Amino acid sequence: MAIGVFDSGVGGLTVHRALVERLPQADLIYLADQANAPYGGRPGEEIVELTKAGCIRLFEEGADLIVLACNTASAIALRRLQQTWLPGYRREQGRPLNVLGIIVPTIEAATGLPWEHEAERLSDKVEKVDILGVFSTPGTASSRVYEIEIDKRRQDVAVFSEPCPNLARMIEEGAGAVALASEVEKHVKQLATRVGRMPDRAILGCTHYEMVADMFRAALPVGTPLIHQPQATADALSLYLERRPEYVAGETGVRRFLTTGVAGPQNGLVEAFWGAPLRFEAA
Ligand code: DGL
Repeated sequence: MAIGVFDSGVGGLTVHRALVERLPQADLIYLADQANAPYGGRPGEEIVELTKAGCIRLFEEGADLIVLACNTASAIALRRLQQTWLPGYRREQGRPLNVLGIIVPTIEAATGLPWEHEAERLSDKVEKVDILGVFSTPGTASSRVYEIEIDKRRQDVAVFSEPCPNLARMIEEGAGAVALASEVEKHVKQLATRVGRMPDRAILGCTHYEMVADMFRAALPVGTPLIHQPQATADALSLYLERRPEYVAGETGVRRFLTTGVAGPQNGLVEAFWGAPLRFEAA
């Protein structure tokens, strides 16, 4: 048994690392759909199809439980796949299989409330709200998932999303620090201009952005709390595994890294984040 971790590219490694820290014995198979990255500007139906293909590949490789370590896939494809394709596929395969996303744990971390705590009706905001900035791909921003789900749960938080159309691609391509920092600063400033002030807290709502979290920290006012998706996802997965004994995370600590793109070493930015060279095998 193994856990699959899926992203369009290298961003999901930020989640993978948190999973390894939390579940060191787990057998993990990482799949990067680099042949089709980035996902963030693609039409929704394409994101659904690509995510489904990635999940099938991971199930075929022996995963039983998949974590979509990608906000874009989680926001746009997950619900559709869980409601339409996954039940039939699970029956065909005759074994327990599931796909989990990254947005529910992030919203729980951002609201401090369990997912089930949904307000009975959308209530008015209180006068003094905390501004929560969400930096994400255009796909995630246009889904409005963070605005909708946080509005249902907290009257004292106002969410503003800032789409960053180039950032995941730049990270995927291993852009230099100066170019990356200026792209991050541009988006932090754009958000602040739109809101009228800097956010009180921020979500890095694309897993790639954790790799440049220091640049977000530098562009935001000193000490602005960041909600970290990798930790939130690792916490949620370990609780899920406790509640669902039919899913076993594995016990040999095997870690495989697959790509639909060009097999081989990843760029220097990824290597610096990972702390060692990292080679992906062809999927
Ligand atoms: N890392 C992904 C996310 O969290 C996808 C980025 C992309 O492919 O555009 O949204």
